[in-house]
Amino acid sequence: LTVVLLFGGRSSEHSISCATAGGVLAALDPDRYTVIPVGITRDGAFVLEDNDPAKFALNASALPVVADNGTRVRWPESAASRELTVVDASGVRSLGTVDLIFPILHGPFGEDGTIQGMLDLLGLPYVGSGVLASALGMDKHFAKTVFQQAALPVAPWRTLTADDWAQAPGTAYAALEHLGLPAFVKPARAGSSVGVSRVSTPEQLAEAMTVGLAEDNKVLIESGLIGRELEIAVLQGRPGEPTRASVAGEVVVTGRDFYDFAAKYLDAPGVDLVCPALLSDEELAEVQQLAIRAFEAIGGAGLARVDFFLTQAGWVINEINTMPGFTSISMFPSCWLASGYTYPELVGELIAVAIA
Ligand code: DAL
Ligand code: MG
Repeated sequence: LTVVLLFGGRSSEHSISCATAGGVLAALDPDRYTVIPVGITRDGAFVLEDNDPAKFALNASALPVVADNGTRVRWPESAASRELTVVDASGVRSLGTVDLIFPILHGPFGEDGTIQGMLDLLGLPYVGSGVLASALGMDKHFAKTVFQQAALPVAPWRTLTADDWAQAPGTAYAALEHLGLPAFVKPARAGSSVGVSRVSTPEQLAEAMTVGLAEDNKVLIESGLIGRELEIAVLQGRPGEPTRASVAGEVVVTGRDFYDFAAKYLDAPGVDLVCPALLSDEELAEVQQLAIRAFEAIGGAGLARVDFFLTQAGWVINEINTMPGFTSISMFPSCWLASGYTYPELVGELIAVAIA
């Protein structure tokens, strides 16, 4: 089976995508898969990368990137072909016929339906959610709207555009007063907590809006939730088989404001990941069911990680990630490892579901 691993990309999560790709590259058995690693530079050039997991390992002091090495990968000329080619200094050469694309991309231009739309146009099958589910999962405003419709409890929020903030900042202050403190300001379409701030006083709102609006022209102000932070990994079943939910992983924040980018990827102290989390059988069954309902509400495919808070009032869904981080320290693989899979089995399952 020839699999194109697509990673890097134009979003602020470029390096996290590279780190995820490093993990997946290491897990793909060369006896079973011919892997074509295609990197996307920050400028959006498709380059032929090295099949070298170590090159893309997560390193807190030097996050991995896709550099422009001068090669250019060319997609098939029409949906009637699955042949990939590469152009480099020595000319044009075929990379062979592709069976499946594995778009390990996080954030806009990768996890938001744009790449998925391109692959649909080209008739190339791929791992994970399609255009609509990817777009919904990426956009926190619309994801929450769909979750509410599916009777999934969400934290109260207000969505504001850059224009709203420029023309009527009072609206944001009024929203903050209505929602209460602490609150979180989040870019609508971003991930890995990039651009997210915790707001504990009204004086912190302006800075938080600036940071959020640097990532997207639309932000959410959300009520801060008090409770435990738990995550469930979801895997689509094979044909005729039901969608599966993993055991829960818990994010235990002790010495930080919240589970921010530095805690996620830069080894910053103050956050521990515990998997499996200590929950009663009833609590686990309930949150697994909610995770599957969230996955189905957006029309997800392949995989997702669904993040929750367990509050005094019960479970509240925080968000869904249609291409969750897969680095060696990420929660998605940890949850499945604790549920009985090995990392290579998990990657193999994603591929098997996508081509089934
Ligand atoms: N957005 C990051 C990669 C995650 O959800 O894991
Ligand atoms: Mg996210």
